[in-house]
Amino acid sequence: MEKIAVAAINHKGGVGKTTLSIILTQMALLKRNRVLAIDLDPQRNFTDALSFISEYFKDALRVKSSLEPGDAECKEEWIILDCPPVLGDITKEALDFADIAIVPVRPDFFSLSNLGVLYSFAEEAGKDRSQLPLVKVGYDTSRLARMVEQVLTEKHYPVAGRVPLNRLIPYNITLGRIWSTGLTADARRPFDQMYNRITSAYTRMLDGDFASPWKD
Ligand SMILES: Nc1ncnc2c1ncn2[C@@H]1O[C@H](COP(=O)(O)OP(=O)(O)OP(=O)(O)O)[C@@H](O)[C@H]1O
Ligand SMILES: [Mg+2]
Repeated sequence: MEKIAVAAINHKGGVGKTTLSIILTQMALLKRNRVLAIDLDPQRNFTDALSFISEYFKDALRVKSSLEPGDAECKEEWIILDCPPVLGDITKEALDFADIAIVPVRPDFFSLSNLGVLYSFAEEAGKDRSQLPLVKVGYDTSRLARMVEQVLTEKHYPVAGRVPLNRLIPYNITLGRIWSTGLTADARRPFDQMYNRITSAYTRMLDGDFASPWKD
């Protein structure tokens, strides 16, 4: 696969941008890729979390806090950009750079009303909607989650994944363990599927398929 740059964006806070950035970084590393992790959020949660695991991955992981000229030619196969919860210049810069910007969304109506603004921002930045797939985070069988999911389906937003909330994940990240320590194979599977969907959609985009890269 070609070099891939994936940003996690959403101007709504606390939806899982940093957690998914950490998980994708670790997955790419565990599949023997090198990763350049760029933490664009002044909160520096991405940087802190990666510092706990950097000794496992040594030179395969490089972490920095801004985009610089030359980053597109870096030696790493994956570039992962964690963005702050603002649609400002930093997120615009990340969008310009990224091949794919995943958009984590929680099952609530405020998240839904925000999405229109986010897609307009991305379209003004010259991105195709297919480059901004949602990742549905924590959609359970509750009535609210089912209602929100129905609206998302009706709007035909592209979807890169549907992952559960699992209390072990923040616990592992805080303790400096691999994110999936102690998770069952069933609990991990949605995250593996998200990673695989991102890589296969990117391969389709490289082949010029922007119409349906997220098709099953
Ligand atoms: N899949 C998950 N399972 C369990 N907890 C999660 C999961 N994803 C995120 N969380 C928790 O939800 C909270 C918000 O997640 P996170 O910090 O990743 O969101 P964010 O979008 O990066 O927030 P911010 O906008 O502040 O940067 C954190 O406490 C995190 O541990
Ligand atoms: Mg964050």
